[in-house]
Amino acid sequence: MEKAILDLLYLLASVGFIVGLKMLGSPKTARKGNLYAAFGMTLAILGTIFIYPRIAHIDVPGFVYGMIFTAILIGTVLGWGIAKKVEMTKMPELVSFFNGMGGATAGLIGLMEFSHNVGHASKMFMIVAGLVIGSISFSGSMIAWGKLSGKLRKPVRLPKYNIINTLLAIILVGFGAYIIISGVNNPVYIYILFTLALIYGVLFVLPIGGADMPVVISLLNSFTGLAAAFGGFLYDNMAMLTGGILVGSAGTILTLAMTKAMNRSLSAVIFGAFGEGSQAADDSGSKIQGNVKEAGPSDAAILLNYANKVIIVPGYGLAVAQAQHVLHELEELLEKKGIDVKYAIHPVAGRMPGHMNVLLAEANVDYDKLVDMDDINNEFPNTDVVLVVGANDVVNPAAHNDPNSPIYGMPILDVENAKNIIVNKRSMKPGYAGIENELFYNPKTSMLFGDAKSALTKVVQELKGMN
Ligand code: TAP
Repeated sequence: MEKAILDLLYLLASVGFIVGLKMLGSPKTARKGNLYAAFGMTLAILGTIFIYPRIAHIDVPGFVYGMIFTAILIGTVLGWGIAKKVEMTKMPELVSFFNGMGGATAGLIGLMEFSHNVGHASKMFMIVAGLVIGSISFSGSMIAWGKLSGKLRKPVRLPKYNIINTLLAIILVGFGAYIIISGVNNPVYIYILFTLALIYGVLFVLPIGGADMPVVISLLNSFTGLAAAFGGFLYDNMAMLTGGILVGSAGTILTLAMTKAMNRSLSAVIFGAFGEGSQAADDSGSKIQGNVKEAGPSDAAILLNYANKVIIVPGYGLAVAQAQHVLHELEELLEKKGIDVKYAIHPVAGRMPGHMNVLLAEANVDYDKLVDMDDINNEFPNTDVVLVVGANDVVNPAAHNDPNSPIYGMPILDVENAKNIIVNKRSMKPGYAGIENELFYNPKTSMLFGDAKSALTKVVQELKGMN
C-alpha cells in the first residue's frame, strides 16, 4: 500500500514537471508552469521523507528529521529571498548559481554512496558518472557566476588550454572507468576523481568570454540534469530520474538552439575554442562602401506617422539604454493612430535566452505583439517601416550574403526587405560579433543616432505633435 502511494506521488510529481515545463514555453503560462513543477517537487520530497523510509525499513531518528527540515527551511528562505530581489539583468548569474548547487548535490551523492556500493559495477557506473558530471557542473557554474557578476572579468586562457582541457577530460574518463572496473575499495580514489572533475569544470569555463556565458550556463544546466538522472537510476527513484532527464534534455535543446542561432558549433563550445571569435576584430573582408543616410527624430516620426504597418526590432542596445518603457509608449501612440505594430524577436537578441521577451514584458508590452523570427520574416516585404532599436548582428544581411563573415549562415531578421528601415544606435560601431553591417548603408535605411532612451523620447514628442 505504502509503495503504491509513493509511486503515485512520484507519478504526480513527474506529471507536474512535464506539464510545468510545457507551460514554460509561453510567457502567458510560464508563472503557472513554474508553480506546477514546484508542486510536483514538493510531493516528491514529502513522499521521499515520510513514506520511503517505511518501505525501505529505515528507522529515521527524530533529530535527523529535525536536521532535514531545518535545512529545507534555510534553503527555502534563502532561495525565496534571493529570487524575489534579483534584477532581470542578473537572472543568468542566479540561474548559474542555483544550477551549481544542483551539480554539487549530485557530486556529494557520489562521494557518500561510493563505499556502500563497491563491487557493484553497474551502481558504481551511476555513482562515478553522476559525481563527475555533477562536480564539473558545480565548479563550472561557479566560474560562470563569477564572470557574469563581474567578479572575474577577463577570460583566462592558459597556454595550450585546449590541449590541457582535452587531456584532463581523457584522464577523467580513464580514471573513472578504472574505479568502476577494478572495484577498488579505497575512498581516496573517489576523492581524487572528485577533485579532478572540479578542476576540469574550472578550466572548461575559464577561457570562455563573458558574453558567451548564457550558452555555457545552458550546457552546464544540461550536465546537472544528467547527473541528477544518474542519481535517479542509482536510487531507482522515478521522480528524480524524470526530473533529471527533463532538465538534461531541455538544457541540451536550449544549448543547441542558441548555438544554431549564434552560428557556432557545439564541438567548439565543448572543446574550449568557444568565445574566441566573439567581439573579434572585423575580419570579414573589405570595408563596406556607400553612404549612410542620417535621420533626426522628426524625420523618424514622419516616417512612422504615415505608415500603415510598423515592425519594431529590439536588440541588446535597448536593454543597455533601458528604453523599453518609452518604446512601449511609442508603440501605443502608433496604435492609437491606427498603425499596426508588432515586435520581431530574434532568438539570441540581447545577451541571454528570452532577454527581449523579459525586457518587453517588464514594460507591459502585450505578449501577442511579440512575434518569433520564423513567423515574422515573411511579413517584412509588406511592412512600411522597420524600427531597429539597439540591434545589430541579428539584422546583419552578411549572414546571407558574405560567406567570409563570421556570422554567415546565422538566421537573421530579414529587415532589409521592408520598404523603409530606421536604425537607432549611438554610432557606426559594430555589435557583439565585431563586424560591419551593410544594412546601415542600404538606401532604404535612415540612421537615427543617439542613446535609445533619449532618441525614442524625442520621437515620441514629435509624434505627439503630429496628426
Ligand atoms: P548586438 O549585435 O550586440 O548590437 C547591439 C547594438 O546596440 C550595438 O551595435 C550598439 O551600437 C547598440 N547600443 C548599445 N548601447 C546602446 C544604447 N544605449 N542606445 C542605442 N543603441 C545602443 O546586439 P543584438 O543585435 O541584440 O545581437 C545579439 C548578439 O549577442 C548576437 O551576436 C548574439 O549571437 C550574441 N549573444 C546572444 C546571446 C543570447 S542567448 N541572447 C548570448 C550570447 C551572445 P552603438 O555602440 O553604436 O550604440
